[in-house]
Amino acid sequence: MSVLHIRGGKPLEGELTVQGAKNSVLPILAACLLAGGPVELFNCPRLTDVTAALGILRHLGCQVCQEGHTITVDPSGACDSFISEEQMHSMRSSIIFLGPLLARTGQADLTYPGGCELGARPIDLHLAAIRALGCQVTEDSGGIRCRGRPVGGEVYLTIPSVGATENAMLCAVGASGWTTITNAAREPEIVDLQRFLNTLGARIRGAGSGVITVEGGRPLSGGRYAIMGDRIVAATLLSGVAAAGGHVALKGVDWRHLATVLGVFQQAGCRVNSWEDRVELVREADCPLRAVSEIHTAPYPGFPTDAQAPVMAALCASRGSTWFEENMFDSRYRHVPQLLRMGADITVRGRAALVRGVERLHGAAVAATDLRGGGALAVAALGARGDSVLSGLHHVDRGYECLEETLQQLGADVRRETGDRVPA
Ligand code: UD1
Repeated sequence: MSVLHIRGGKPLEGELTVQGAKNSVLPILAACLLAGGPVELFNCPRLTDVTAALGILRHLGCQVCQEGHTITVDPSGACDSFISEEQMHSMRSSIIFLGPLLARTGQADLTYPGGCELGARPIDLHLAAIRALGCQVTEDSGGIRCRGRPVGGEVYLTIPSVGATENAMLCAVGASGWTTITNAAREPEIVDLQRFLNTLGARIRGAGSGVITVEGGRPLSGGRYAIMGDRIVAATLLSGVAAAGGHVALKGVDWRHLATVLGVFQQAGCRVNSWEDRVELVREADCPLRAVSEIHTAPYPGFPTDAQAPVMAALCASRGSTWFEENMFDSRYRHVPQLLRMGADITVRGRAALVRGVERLHGAAVAATDLRGGGALAVAALGARGDSVLSGLHHVDRGYECLEETLQQLGADVRRETGDRVPA
């Protein structure tokens, strides 16, 4: 078992380029199945979820090569259309392969991706979208059997689901006719997927708005593309600065994607400066954070559910009380009992959580129970008095590339200990 040892209380200082976005690279890797030649992707984060996606691509018959942050995918040999239960469970968003598989082969056999640490993971909207595009979907005892080449159609999403929007786009690109996706999710990663597919020759319009149109059936080429920066990793690092104090500049992220998170830090008393692809946060050592007005998670451009835990961790040590309302997932307060071990004062009632600010957290042995919850515990430890030991790193490594090295670059006192000698 690996753990992170974090000595808190040291202000963070410096500048770094944020890793590529997990939530962008995963659908783009699935989209490579649609390419007419090799695809070279730059700025790909090295994450266990990315390794799992590459495993699925290899299994389907693609040639895949990963060197540093560059991944090359040659889909010309891909002919399989079956994804095993083990691979479907290897990462939460494995369902994103459904749309491109159908578009490429006219069939797909897979299983449910399973629940996850955030609660139930329904895929009803994904399947409804696939049906609306003209494919047959049969579900039985855990298996999903899809048949038929997509013809295109009208997809109306009852919830602006990120994954269902992406699946519909990916399936629609290979359809014989036009598709309109209404009440589409508007997340920046969907704009990145549109840009990537259009680079290969697709004709998609409207990503970033609630209506996306896709002209299906255009032949796609191979190509080269750089993945956008990860706004959630950026939000986590900025939460770390808010918790520990200091002055940090992040490059490679668009501050507009972080607007709601930056607004919270500004209200809490931090100074925020932003340029096109650079954002800077300053929290003076002698200036404690203030509580802020209610934080409600919502689809983009609302406050991101993925930033809820890290921002909550920062606000644990603040003057006053802050209400949170989690509207996206059922089980997204699993970091709270761990924060309580560090001296936080938080009450959870259903979707709501009340954070009563304390003067300072103290170090403790804590365990990550999900990806962003793990990021939150690192944030809390950076601001705490004394030493913390963070376990459960398999969750953290799904989405943060070498978190300890990133934090070390900002001057934090963090090290990873790997192996049997590590305390439980
Ligand atoms: C994506 C992100 C995840 C983020 C989430 C919300 C990726 C790889 N992951 O997840 O980090 O937390 O968006 O911003 O991009 N829903 C249904 N039926 C469905 C699909 C979703 O009811 O078929 C519900 C979900 O339970 C949830 C809501 O819709 O309550 C939003 O989920 P969705 O946008 O689909 O999240 P993901 O795409 O899974």
